[in-house]
Amino acid sequence: MKKIEPINEEIILDNTKYIESQTDTKGVIVECNDYFAEISGYSKKELIGQPHSIVRHPDMPRIIFKLLWERIENGHNIITVIKNLAKSGRYYWVFTHFEIIRDINTKEIKGYRAYRKAVSKHIADILLPLYKKLVAIEKEKDIKESEKYLNDFLASGGEDITIDNLMEEIHNFY
Ligand SMILES: Cc1cc2nc3c(=O)[nH]c(=O)nc-3n(C[C@H](O)[C@H](O)[C@H](O)COP(=O)(O)O)c2cc1C
Repeated sequence: MKKIEPINEEIILDNTKYIESQTDTKGVIVECNDYFAEISGYSKKELIGQPHSIVRHPDMPRIIFKLLWERIENGHNIITVIKNLAKSGRYYWVFTHFEIIRDINTKEIKGYRAYRKAVSKHIADILLPLYKKLVAIEKEKDIKESEKYLNDFLASGGEDITIDNLMEEIHNFY
């Protein structure tokens, strides 16, 4: 896959539309909608069969994806705020709802589905400094340290705050 150089230019999303995709259990894209292709700048043909990290932005901390995978592999739905990278190098922020797809008969996890909507600038402004700090820790130290920083950050906001309810709270509030 060609490496995309990020540029500091935001793609403004239509907040009446969802960016949708479906993956197998490893995160390889098996389906997506037209809006995903339009915003990411890839054709559906280019997207299908690729790992979802095709739109991974370097400003996203590894710990956020680690937590995401821990949740979904254990069968839990989750909301996450993600900054994505388009083919042009521009970025777009999305609220992403992850859902589990199960085999009707065996109930085994067959894959995952994600629905994304626009994030207000206000939310991106809250999360960007946290994500930047986590990325910096991961560069200087490791993911264990960024996980510790994230847990301390959440604990400082009161009891029982997890990354899931932080995201959900932000989602419900704005
Ligand atoms: C259904 C589904 C949707 C995903 N959507 C995104 C996405 O929009 N952006 C993203 O960076 N990662 C997304 N991921 C996570 C990627 O699979 C991957 O973990 C992440 O990009 C980090 O890539 P890396 O582990 O290669 O660094 C999604 C995963 C699943 C299962």
